[in-house]
Amino acid sequence: MATDALPPPPVVLAIESSCDDTACAVVDGGGRVLASVVSSQLAAHRPWGGVVPEIASREHLRNWPAVSTAALAEAGIGLDQVDAVAATRGPGLVGSLLVGLSLGRGIAHGLGRPFHGIHHLEGHLVSPFLATDGAPAAAVPERFVGLVVSGGHTSLLAVEEGGRSVRSLAETRDDAMGEVFDKVGKRLGLAYPQGPLVDRLAERATGTASADGGFSLPPAEGELFFSFSGLKSQALRAIERLERDGVLTPPDPAAPRPLDELPAAAAEFAAAFRATAVAQVIDRLRRLVAERPVEVLAVSGGAAANRLLRRELESWAATSGVTLRLVPLGYAGDNAAMIGWATVLRLRRGEAPRADDLEVQSRLPFAAA
Ligand code: KG4
Ligand code: ZN
Repeated sequence: MATDALPPPPVVLAIESSCDDTACAVVDGGGRVLASVVSSQLAAHRPWGGVVPEIASREHLRNWPAVSTAALAEAGIGLDQVDAVAATRGPGLVGSLLVGLSLGRGIAHGLGRPFHGIHHLEGHLVSPFLATDGAPAAAVPERFVGLVVSGGHTSLLAVEEGGRSVRSLAETRDDAMGEVFDKVGKRLGLAYPQGPLVDRLAERATGTASADGGFSLPPAEGELFFSFSGLKSQALRAIERLERDGVLTPPDPAAPRPLDELPAAAAEFAAAFRATAVAQVIDRLRRLVAERPVEVLAVSGGAAANRLLRRELESWAATSGVTLRLVPLGYAGDNAAMIGWATVLRLRRGEAPRADDLEVQSRLPFAAA
């Protein structure tokens, strides 16, 4: 997005490499995404049915020159116009994080600019406020609740004091939402990442899928928490039954199965599974607003691309009085724009880089409980 006017400072060059996407973005002081480039490593990992850490690190190094060159060209700026550099410092795969963080530190050092190491969730949390059309980001409210649903997290977070305070309200006790979609899809023989494919499969169901289609929600025992492992076990057993009944052929581990080869019964199964997973999220939100006032709910993460989740959130928000900010689809999955935007917000708060910004950590708690 090259314009004649200079982008308002601080212009942040951001890197995200915590898993298998090599991403680079340029975000300006208005929260405009001047460029956001994401290079997927799908082809490299697909033969293995999931992400191979060693391959991911090598691919990040291989992809970086093209990804960063494309981002700077798209933004229409040179490195000399960069005011700060940022990279994800955790959580994620250590080797992958190290590549991004080292590149970021090196560039910042070379430019004589500050470097910020950003928590992956800090990025997801503020991504719903980004615009996709090069417009400035929306104002981030002083307080809001964030719901992050991804392959690694299912978290409800209370953000207060303009982002200075973040507390965890609920986490998953076992699997993350996206992770369960991936595992169930893998058992169906679908290609990695299976989450979006299970979603597409579910869209084909003609029956009216409901959350009780053979699956049950975990009891919440009056406490706010997520749990998807029970649903996962029920779903894996249901697939076994379909195979025993001859409705579904077992997957071939050596060759992923195209979606079109799955029978109609698999679509009905996927719809019931998806409806139960989504019903749990909506149930927790209902409990949350019954407990405390929530003005704004910002929903982010790869699994926030789920079509049913988006529809259900919209209709729940319309009746609950909560203002919903759903992450734009382009920033749901991992991207560097969200890391750049989190950095701009830090700089707006007057925060200097922290000593631990320079360390990568595979497990990195984000919010105090
Ligand atoms: O945020 P993200 O790109 O990476 C992590 O931080 O984990 O999220 C990726 C996750 C994967 O588990 C992927 O299968 C899931 O998000 N996902 C979906 C959908 N699109 C992506 N899960 C359910 N339905 C979708 N449409
Ligand atoms: Zn993520």
